[in-house]
Amino acid sequence: MRKKVSIVGSGNVGATAAHWIASKELADVVLIDIVEGVPQGKALDLLQAMPIEKRDSHVIGTNDYADTANSDIVVITAGIPRKPGMSRDDLLNTNYKIMQDVVGKVVQHSPNSIIIVVSNPLDAMAQAAYKISKFSKNRVIGMAGVLDSARFRTFIAEELKVSVENVTAFVLGGHGDTMVPLPRYSTVAGIPITELIAKDKLEALVQRTANGGAEIVKYLKTGSAYYAPSAATCEMVEAILKDKKKILPCAAYLEGEYGIKGYFVGVPCKLGARGLEQIIEIKLTPEEQTALNKSADSVKELCAVIGV
Ligand code: LAC
Repeated sequence: MRKKVSIVGSGNVGATAAHWIASKELADVVLIDIVEGVPQGKALDLLQAMPIEKRDSHVIGTNDYADTANSDIVVITAGIPRKPGMSRDDLLNTNYKIMQDVVGKVVQHSPNSIIIVVSNPLDAMAQAAYKISKFSKNRVIGMAGVLDSARFRTFIAEELKVSVENVTAFVLGGHGDTMVPLPRYSTVAGIPITELIAKDKLEALVQRTANGGAEIVKYLKTGSAYYAPSAATCEMVEAILKDKKKILPCAAYLEGEYGIKGYFVGVPCKLGARGLEQIIEIKLTPEEQTALNKSADSVKELCAVIGV
């Protein structure tokens, strides 16, 4: 039987995630939204692309959670996006209400699923999904680090005029202004970028990465990024469905790792069939640890506001 991935929210991120997943034939896809017609229309359109793409992923759109029953993975993208000048944190209360409604239904219809949270503010929404679902921590994972590190990799590849394939990068911390790109652990063909890019230039790339989402919101004006966020989500889905044991930066519930307890923060994670299979602890310098603590503190503040 084919795997089943349900995507909650048929906006740009959700629909484009469906596109990447179906075009790689990773699973059958159910696109669900409260808006009537939009998930149905987008799903039918995508389904009709499958003969051209030579893929047999089945794609349906629905407003009924019964259609999502027994999903292997549920991706939650539901929520309002940012407008120019807004921070991800400005979405907190509205998206928390949506999360409460959505997660309850996900648990009811797909009690054994793995939840990937994409809604913002990411780390707090992942924490909310974890608390509401009561799933074990390996089955609730937040998408942010793959996106943030992809942005960093893009800027590094452009700067050095090398293939993006040569560039690996690590970004830790929350998905916000306090995220912690780690140049020391970012490499080009195995060479640390600290050997290849001057310090001030590197600092500018780090800043551009931390500001990566806002840069796109400023251009789009009516919404936020979606191609890279949905591609990042698809990479996580693929790692889980294919049991790849792939190490990716994701938001995970920490229980003392990196000195942080009881919160979702972005760290290197091994993803496989059981979801989050391992948190990889790397040694940080005192400056990096301070930056990570600051990032965790801002996640804690948001969680306190919504009481999760
Ligand atoms: C971004 C939003 C999706 O970083 O958080 O583009």
